[in-house]
Amino acid sequence: MPLDNLIDGRAIAARVQQELAGRVAGLKQRGITPGLAFVRVGEDPASKVYVGRKEKCCAEVGMVSETHVLPAATTETELLVLLAKLNAASHLHGILVQAPLPKHIRESVIFSFVSPAKDVDGFNPVNVGKLMLGDDSGFRPCTPAGIMELLARSQVNTSGAEVVVLGRGNIVGKPMAAMLCQKGAGANATVTLCHSATRDIAAHCRRADILIAALGVPEFVKADFVKPGAVVIDVGVNRVPDATSKTGTKLVGDVAFAAVQPLVRLITPNPGGVGPMTIAMLMQNTVRAAEMAGK
Ligand code: GUN
Repeated sequence: MPLDNLIDGRAIAARVQQELAGRVAGLKQRGITPGLAFVRVGEDPASKVYVGRKEKCCAEVGMVSETHVLPAATTETELLVLLAKLNAASHLHGILVQAPLPKHIRESVIFSFVSPAKDVDGFNPVNVGKLMLGDDSGFRPCTPAGIMELLARSQVNTSGAEVVVLGRGNIVGKPMAAMLCQKGAGANATVTLCHSATRDIAAHCRRADILIAALGVPEFVKADFVKPGAVVIDVGVNRVPDATSKTGTKLVGDVAFAAVQPLVRLITPNPGGVGPMTIAMLMQNTVRAAEMAGK
């Protein structure tokens, strides 16, 4: 297998953002500037980095953003009061509450309260339901939507393909499976969703034409899990000890990249694969929210 088999998420995300900048310019001519509000509760270091990246992207495509940072001791009610204001604010077209939230705040309550029309994360049950029903008037969660876009723009045919998704989380695994199994162009896959109770995960993986790892276990997918010539998408972001680095830690994905890359047709690098596309899809959802609000 050649080693020029990387799916360059940064380059593909940059193209998506360029397309979006054109749509934002069109909205601005009509007097509409897309606006996105970020809400961060507490000082989770990774969340700070992620929200910072998303703010930067908003500026790059010409949108405005505002970030609300609340202390870790914020109550659920206080957060709901803020969200009620953001739901009602006409200059805001999208709202993103960064997960994870402190343990005493129920994410399900918070995500359900974000107006479905501003739910650019796609986590409100209305949008989750629309995804399951194949109703594309809703917003789709950004990470799986970004993976669908990566596959399409890398000419990976999903129709009839055996796809194995590792991980059944609400943010990636479950919506990923729902998108892939829809009837329609760019989907139509045969999907197997594996999780912690799955027997012989490796055997499932070896059947996969497309293997999507989103289970949050460092370098879980080994060389003997992949069918030669498969397409591998690595969603994992795991911090592990590393005595050779200054910080004493490093980030690795859910795929043992060095061992797997030589065997496969295509693979996402990590970082530089799925992450940039997640942000691009957030921008896309927000531009769409503004276009729908402006109609
Ligand atoms: N935390 C990890 N991924 C996400 C995401 O896509 N959206 C939000 N709001 N929080 C996250």
